[in-house]
Amino acid sequence: MNEHIKPPAAPRTLPRESATFDAYTMSEIRRAAATGIYDIRGAGAKRKVPHFDDLLFLGASMSRYPLEGYRERCGTDVVLGTRFAKKPIHLKIPITIAGMSFGSLSGPAKEALGRGATAMGTSTTTGDGGMTQEERGHSQTLVYQYLPSRYGMNPDDIRKADAIEVVVGQGAKPGGGGMLLGQKISPRVAKMRTLPEGIDQRSACRHPDWTGPDDLEIKIEELREITDWEKPIYVKVGAARPYYDTALSVKAGADVIVVDGMQGGTAATQEVFIENVGIPTLAAVRQAVKALQDLGMHRKVQLIVSGGIRNGADVAKALALGADAVAIGTAALVALGDNDPQWESEYEALGTRAGAYDDWHEGRDPAGITTQDPELMKRLDPVRAGRRLANYLAVMTLEAQTIARACGKSHVHNLEPEDLVALTIEAAAMAQVPLAGTNWVPGQDGRF
Ligand SMILES: Cc1cc2nc3c(=O)[nH]c(=O)nc-3n(C[C@H](O)[C@H](O)[C@H](O)COP(=O)(O)O)c2cc1C
Repeated sequence: MNEHIKPPAAPRTLPRESATFDAYTMSEIRRAAATGIYDIRGAGAKRKVPHFDDLLFLGASMSRYPLEGYRERCGTDVVLGTRFAKKPIHLKIPITIAGMSFGSLSGPAKEALGRGATAMGTSTTTGDGGMTQEERGHSQTLVYQYLPSRYGMNPDDIRKADAIEVVVGQGAKPGGGGMLLGQKISPRVAKMRTLPEGIDQRSACRHPDWTGPDDLEIKIEELREITDWEKPIYVKVGAARPYYDTALSVKAGADVIVVDGMQGGTAATQEVFIENVGIPTLAAVRQAVKALQDLGMHRKVQLIVSGGIRNGADVAKALALGADAVAIGTAALVALGDNDPQWESEYEALGTRAGAYDDWHEGRDPAGITTQDPELMKRLDPVRAGRRLANYLAVMTLEAQTIARACGKSHVHNLEPEDLVALTIEAAAMAQVPLAGTNWVPGQDGRF
């Protein structure tokens, strides 16, 4: 054999990344191995789960009659708290701003949320850490959260609120508590929470003074007494067993129930929680509505749904499935300026990029929103940011109205499951609407 002739190189297959051990997973194993601590971050579940994108509307044609977009009215208002409260809340749009703590958010961010929501006739919500002057001063309608941690809780502020939300849990972490790392415990945050400056704080995962729905009933009655039965009382749960949680909240005397799905944002929690605990918003809505229907309380106790609401189509789909209103957290922060590519070089310096930034717990937010750093905070102009939020809320409302009119509805609340079909079997089963092009509703047991 001629020793100068080399055998042809064997063809090589392309390097193949494992779907199980993908690049993100491997980087997380390396991070855990190097540090010995679990990952904490903000935002909601990032994995893909069945969502409102998997539903489509059946616009009117022959068997249904659409409304004319520019001439025929399509209402968007909603009244919350009609069950027991002497002073229910009237909102012009069915999109509310979810509870986000002062401490996780800066004072200017709280002011901007108040300004934007008020301009559109809707409500904002306090959060862990109490009520700030910025938010009360600029929110026409402010819901006061009554949380397990009691951080910043103050009976005078309860009376200053327009409604009270008893927080049992959040979609990002049902059964878990919150975190506020020391770098965000500024002198003001510490004072409001009566805790030391600069020390990590964990919010409790359950209320210290009641353990179940029977106790909650007593707690709700106490809250009604100190507010002279005027203010609606909401109960917020993270979506895990929404059928039973809704039924038990009704039994405990809630005027309004807030169900927050697993995509729901948080300021800071363990990543393992965010991605692995709770059920998707889509699955939660129909279960909560069914519980209300089974009790004859649908539309008597109002339902607010949150977790991954991004646009008017999401709003319209949540309402069509039976919600009375939605709440937004993450999307409101993005509207204010969070994750804006204008700060790209600073995100890169933090080891991330615009669109992926979720280290809200670290307090180094270049946009001045999830920080207590006085210099970074100055970057957020609350007037301009409030206007941006109002614009965004206006667009969402117009989008929901456009869809409702196309389905022949003169109010967004007249949308119904019958207006929807699903693109996937999973979404059809979760939302209990037919798979597109069929009359098949997987898992239907004939009780709907
Ligand atoms: C920065 C931030 C802070 C939050 N703080 C609270 C809080 O103090 N109390 C609470 O009940 N929920 C809190 N949440 C959760 C929201 O109230 C809401 O359930 C969630 O953001 C809705 O999902 P979305 O972000 O996809 O819209 C927070 C969320 C964010 C993004």
